[in-house]
Amino acid sequence: MTITLFKDERALARALALQIAAALEARPEAVLGLPTGRTPIRLYHELGTLHAHRQLDFSRATTFNLDEFLGIGPDHPGSYRAFMEQHLFSRVNLSADRINVLNGAAPDPERECERYETAIAAAGGIDLQLLGIGTNGHIGFNEPARELAGRTHRVTLTRSTRRSNAALFGGEADRVPREALSMGMATILHARHIILIATGKSKAKCIERMVHGPITTKMPASFLQVHANVELMLDDAAASAIRR
Ligand code: PGA
Repeated sequence: MTITLFKDERALARALALQIAAALEARPEAVLGLPTGRTPIRLYHELGTLHAHRQLDFSRATTFNLDEFLGIGPDHPGSYRAFMEQHLFSRVNLSADRINVLNGAAPDPERECERYETAIAAAGGIDLQLLGIGTNGHIGFNEPARELAGRTHRVTLTRSTRRSNAALFGGEADRVPREALSMGMATILHARHIILIATGKSKAKCIERMVHGPITTKMPASFLQVHANVELMLDDAAASAIRR
């Protein structure tokens, strides 16, 4: 893993936005995997700013979001689709037919997962997968467990994950859906290039376990150790347990 440190969240977001702009300039039809959560918000705003200054063109790019809550539709204000509209899709020139987000209101969730895998394969696979990390080591909604799913699947969310998503549902963890759909570990690990971003002291311990700990399903992000092209972009606080 390549590790790059930044003095703060802003510097990280700016550097990554410029890196994404350069990647899209080199390969305008790139396929991007996108995360939600608090961490990428600043990045998405930086991408919007670069686009507004005509330094970034998404017109030929394709995107696939990592995950979505189950049981709510794309128009629900708590959905990840709504989050993406607010923070990125409304600010850049992605073509609507090349934006892909799992549909949490699909009548047959298992079939929706298969459809998603087929769509990723049809797009040629993911060139650049951006990831956040949960304090429990989850990537996407692949929560610590005895076994991890390979492909896009239906998942039961842990209490801590529902709590950390409460802000999307009026601050009430009980209103966060109990289930979600998520890309699986193999879906993520098949991306040609992965960049994981983490900021803040609360991520320091899971970053240390991800980088130096054993590869274990109890720390799903530890599987990134087996991928040949992973970059970690961290602020000083998130890197505080791995700096020597
Ligand atoms: P966060 O979530 O960016 O809100 O910390 C990250 C994640 O759960 O993947």
